[in-house]
Amino acid sequence: MSRRKLSPVRARASILVWTAFLLIGSCQHCPAQSTEQLPDFYGYEVVAEYAHDPYAFTQGLQFDNICERTGGGSACKEVFWESTGMYGESTMRAVQVADGRVLAKTPMASQWFGEGATRLGDKLYQITWLSGAGFIYSVPDLKQVGTFTTPLNDGWGLTTDGNLLVASDGSEQLFWLDPANGFKIVRQMRVMDGSKPVFALNELEFIGGEVWANVWQTNCIARICPETGKVKGWLLMHGLRQSLQDRNLASNGMDVLNGIAWDHHRQRLFITGKYWPRIFEVVPVPVNATDDALAKRQSCFVRK
Ligand SMILES: *[C@@H]1O[C@H](CO)[C@@H](O)[C@H](O)[C@H]1NC(C)=O
Repeated sequence: MSRRKLSPVRARASILVWTAFLLIGSCQHCPAQSTEQLPDFYGYEVVAEYAHDPYAFTQGLQFDNICERTGGGSACKEVFWESTGMYGESTMRAVQVADGRVLAKTPMASQWFGEGATRLGDKLYQITWLSGAGFIYSVPDLKQVGTFTTPLNDGWGLTTDGNLLVASDGSEQLFWLDPANGFKIVRQMRVMDGSKPVFALNELEFIGGEVWANVWQTNCIARICPETGKVKGWLLMHGLRQSLQDRNLASNGMDVLNGIAWDHHRQRLFITGKYWPRIFEVVPVPVNATDDALAKRQSCFVRK
């Protein structure tokens, strides 16, 4: 599918919004906030959409460039590393960004339900639902080259700060795991919006020094300060899934939003969901704490 092009004016507006967003959004020092201080709120603008396998029950998503040496230099491809779930359907995939073509795919044995995945160094790490078991794959050919075990009883989301792995397990906690030291838990923290814990943290991405997490069964993405676990902001993605339903694109049925990927070089944010037929490129747009934003924020809290 072709990329839906923006007019130059809209594209420039998007870049301005992004620049402002990144300046405001920097979380290097996690300024002290009183517990009652409101987080920032963001809506979104869709700037492009890409094909996505509607039979992929997306559980992990990460953007990457794979470069290969050629005669004259090197050629690079933009890919998503994608982990899919469901017993008997779970896979680890390399997916071409431009057209959704699956370039490589390694199926998992049917007793495993794939969950979060992330690249660290020249390996991909993938965790599994309701277990501490994990699998290691080579890049870019996705050969399974090893297994590991985390101390977690359940695996949901996975990302990395470039050194440690960061995992979620469906609770309100984030766990820092050290792959160089037996995947031991180095650090863990509760994620709180003010005095309220944020349960069901799912797919994760490290973006601009923050951890971004989508909350299972909601349209919410939390921007979390990794030093404190505080929610600095909420991306309110309400309406994105509905936009696919409205266009009758959800032939296979669809499940919830799940999947955040970040192109660091070009500052592009990608969002998809389980069995969604599209991956969206979106730009967060700051919004005020209106009644509408506060009501949407309320929907980000699910029962434990
Ligand atoms: C947000 O609130 C500020 C201050 O009240 C106001 O100046 C601004 O126009 C508002 N922005 C939007 C998008 O409503």
